[in-house]
Amino acid sequence: MPSTIPYAQRRAALAAHLGPHGIAIVPTAPTQQRNRDNDFLFRADSYFYYLCGFAEPNAWLVITGDGKSTLFCQPKDLEREIWDGVRLGPQAAPAALGVDAAHPVSALDTELPKMLENRDAVWYPFATHHGLETKVDGWLQPVRGRMRFGALCPDVQRDLCAVLDEMRLIKDASELATMGRAAQISAEAHVRAMQTSARMLRAGQEVREYHLDAELLHAFRHHGSQHTAYGSIVAAGANACVLHYRADAGLVHDGELVLIDAGCELDGYASDITRTFPANGRFTGPQRALYDLVVASQYAAVAATKPGARFTDPHEASVRVLAQGMLDLGLLDTNKVGNLHDVIEKRAYSAFYMHRTSHWLGMDVHDCGSYTEPAERGQISERKDALSGETIKDRPARVLRPGMVLTLEPGIYVRAAEGVPEQFHGIGIRIEDDAVVTDQGCDLISRGVPVDADAIEALMRA
Ligand code: GLY
Ligand code: MN
Ligand code: MN
Repeated sequence: MPSTIPYAQRRAALAAHLGPHGIAIVPTAPTQQRNRDNDFLFRADSYFYYLCGFAEPNAWLVITGDGKSTLFCQPKDLEREIWDGVRLGPQAAPAALGVDAAHPVSALDTELPKMLENRDAVWYPFATHHGLETKVDGWLQPVRGRMRFGALCPDVQRDLCAVLDEMRLIKDASELATMGRAAQISAEAHVRAMQTSARMLRAGQEVREYHLDAELLHAFRHHGSQHTAYGSIVAAGANACVLHYRADAGLVHDGELVLIDAGCELDGYASDITRTFPANGRFTGPQRALYDLVVASQYAAVAATKPGARFTDPHEASVRVLAQGMLDLGLLDTNKVGNLHDVIEKRAYSAFYMHRTSHWLGMDVHDCGSYTEPAERGQISERKDALSGETIKDRPARVLRPGMVLTLEPGIYVRAAEGVPEQFHGIGIRIEDDAVVTDQGCDLISRGVPVDADAIEALMRA
């Protein structure tokens, strides 16, 4: 059975934020119907799971400022368990999960008003669970009714996300261990897909994007991952220039590149890896020129990812390398766009690199956590965006600290267009790794699959 210790520690840390008379209410995710009699695979709410590791639907966690936690969960029910599977039930929950008490979820409406009485503040996640505010209102009404008998009713409602986002931003040892395993599984899946592509083409077989997607899924599930962390992108040839392309039926042509952006979710934690490789295992000259540029830009991002740096530093480092490369390779014409400084200032590089280099990674693939430095939120500077002309309010970016996890995913996407060298038309490249900020710099936990072109060619020959 997994240890309940990290969850108890997180609940205790949260309780310390609530104040002695505060109370927090955390629902898990709702089940969602896919079509008649058929639900989407259930996934627990990330905040809820973070605090108790309980994966059944229809459950709530209540934590009070004195550190006590109460779970509301589905009762044991043989009839339902025959159809849907075993339920933990409230009787077994305290020993299994380390919570102090547990009740059937049907008791929520009678227990919550009692638990809310004589509290000063009630915390719950704002704007994440449809109708939750109304439910809290409903539980507060009877408490208010009892005020004439001397009861106190909370007069402050606070957003639980704000405190949990900050906690989740710094991963603890147990989270880092799970994320490391998830990244290792995903890396293995990428290697498998690359090798399958080269092997099938060598054997003269037709290769489609879904064949490679199947290899990814095989590796994910074979190693116990419950789900993909997001919809896998398997993009053959020019499909790679569609940023949100999904694995479909496109033909993988000998001589073209394939971009795969795929990661598994393991025990509630995401991995997020992109590799771009030649379908047949050998880069052409133009492919290699662009590929090496993206690799160099990623190395620049890696070097910029260290404690004390800002969240935006890896992006800026990548952009500098990419922009210079675009000038050197003739994607951008100095006569039209000026020098490197101008290309960056005017964001001319965004014709070929239009997304950011990083996002937080954790339970959610685009994980929670503020991208601005909390202590410096008052320092607002205004600028006019070079492309849209919009006025943007900037706040100082987040300072990186050990335990934060972010992706480093520069890319270059060259659609066929007039004035763009033809040899690069239809090439889309992204390289994405998962970086844990350490005391000295960062640790790339997804490098079980290589990025250097020679290493990719070598493994695809194998
Ligand atoms: N796969 C989603 C992303 O890279 O952000
Ligand atoms: Mn990503
Ligand atoms: Mn990705």
